[in-house]
Amino acid sequence: MNEQQEGRFEGRVVVITGSATGIGEATMSRFASEGASVAGLDNQTAKNEATAATIRHDGGEAIAIECDVRSEEAQTNAFAKVLDRYGRIDVLVTSAGIYVGSALVDIPMERWHDIESVNLTGVLLSNKLVAATMIEQKSGSIINVASMAAKTSWPYSAEYSATKSGVIGITRSVAMELGPDGITANAVCPGNTVTAMVRTVAAEIGATRDMTGEEWLDMRANDTALKRLAEPWEVAGLIAFLASDDARYITGQSIEIDGGLILS
Ligand SMILES: NC(=O)c1ccc[n+]([C@@H]2O[C@H](COP(=O)([O-])OP(=O)(O)OC[C@H]3O[C@@H](n4cnc5c(N)ncnc54)[C@H](O)[C@@H]3O)[C@@H](O)[C@H]2O)c1
Repeated sequence: MNEQQEGRFEGRVVVITGSATGIGEATMSRFASEGASVAGLDNQTAKNEATAATIRHDGGEAIAIECDVRSEEAQTNAFAKVLDRYGRIDVLVTSAGIYVGSALVDIPMERWHDIESVNLTGVLLSNKLVAATMIEQKSGSIINVASMAAKTSWPYSAEYSATKSGVIGITRSVAMELGPDGITANAVCPGNTVTAMVRTVAAEIGATRDMTGEEWLDMRANDTALKRLAEPWEVAGLIAFLASDDARYITGQSIEIDGGLILS
């Protein structure tokens, strides 16, 4: 775990989508450990409740809200619950996402619609639904989780890369539109990070290259300057920095956290 700054987010309210596992879970814990009240939105209800319960057990303030980010009604209800409980929203982190990759000639259109509805519609809705609150407050930080798949390329990932490039597009436009109201919007672009998702990616892409998932992950680690994959808490540290006062003049950026992947 990287260095925490006790009380840095005291009094702030943070909403995180995709909080049940992986980067979203690590981000929930990070903000809570620095004093924020955190609300996690996820459709994996039991795991999401467990994330929030662990934080409360450790003395933090957290609620889990069941929410399928694909649904405008579900997200509207979820944001209303957060406002009912805490009365404001200072930070939005959109980490809910899925991975789908296929050989181009085989892309099943239903899988494209699945990934588009979570990774793009879900992110757009969260940004839309938090905007009125942040505009009224004249402050706020939005951090959307994109991916190095938007900055570099590999085969069998056209669907995923398209959605993550779209997340950067949303972020840049939101930064321009909400900047005059004192709101920042940035994207983070992780390289391969050790979560459930990366194992799915490894198995699917590895199979196209006659490699096991583990072999593909070793290859990806070796492609970085640091010769390892990222840990979820390292990505959470960047997200927390972007939500902090130290980052208040950073907006519209898509920041790589990739261990030096695109240097090689
Ligand atoms: N792991 C990586 O290597 C990596 C790299 C770059 C970017 N990312 C991005 O980071 C984000 C988090 O991924 P992760 O690696 O932590 O994966 P993960 O699978 O551990 O976490 C994704 C979370 O999103 C939730 N989710 C999925 N569909 C949802 C829906 N319809 N409604 C609500 N919640 C939903 C899942 O339940 C899960 O808790 C994703 O946007 C992913 O694309 C991951």
